[in-house]
Amino acid sequence: MLAVALIGAYALVQSGLIPANADAKPGRLETWMAGTSLRATLRREAPKAQNPVALTDQSLLDGVHLFAQNCAVCHGAAKGAASPSPIAKGLYQKPPQLATDGVEDDPEGDSFWKIKHGIRLTGMPSFGYSLSDQQIWTLALFLKHMDKLPPAVRQIWLQVQNWPATSVNPPIQK
Ligand code: HEC
Repeated sequence: MLAVALIGAYALVQSGLIPANADAKPGRLETWMAGTSLRATLRREAPKAQNPVALTDQSLLDGVHLFAQNCAVCHGAAKGAASPSPIAKGLYQKPPQLATDGVEDDPEGDSFWKIKHGIRLTGMPSFGYSLSDQQIWTLALFLKHMDKLPPAVRQIWLQVQNWPATSVNPPIQK
């Protein structure tokens, strides 16, 4: 019985009927499984402690710079969903454009965990290999306050680009 089920599953995967394309909307089962397992993992593993990075203009500014360098290409700049980058448009799952679909309500420990470990089966990378915990907490702080930045920091945030505006060679004409 089990063998039949396994052969059936193998044949189904081999048949090409399970979509492998990125230009579609995820189905309900896929969305439910991914969401439920992520929430359960966060309950077990996300740090519950307060953000060790103090809320100052300087930390928020550091957060803007880290975000511009590592995240804006997928999560957008201040214009949010009004102008996603070419990479953001085509990714599956769609990366939320955080200036529009923000995570200010999420506990900072949850954002810390997602940034450090990434989200499996999505384009969300794990930054644990390239950023320190201090930098990741700084990003979590910025995300928490993205919609209420002090004016001086907001000024810099408004200048962030989500995609290289210029390149060394003239841009390719289509
Ligand atoms: C290559 C693209 C890519 C890059 C770069 C990227 N992300 Fe993501 N991120 C994603 C995708 C795709 C998702 C959505 C995953 C999902 O559907 O569960 C995501 C999800 C998230 C979430 C959860 C959002 C929510 O609504 O729960 C946070 C927070 C996040 N990313 C923060 C960051 C930060 C901070 C950086 C930079 C250090 C970053 N991401 C870099 C693609 C990216």
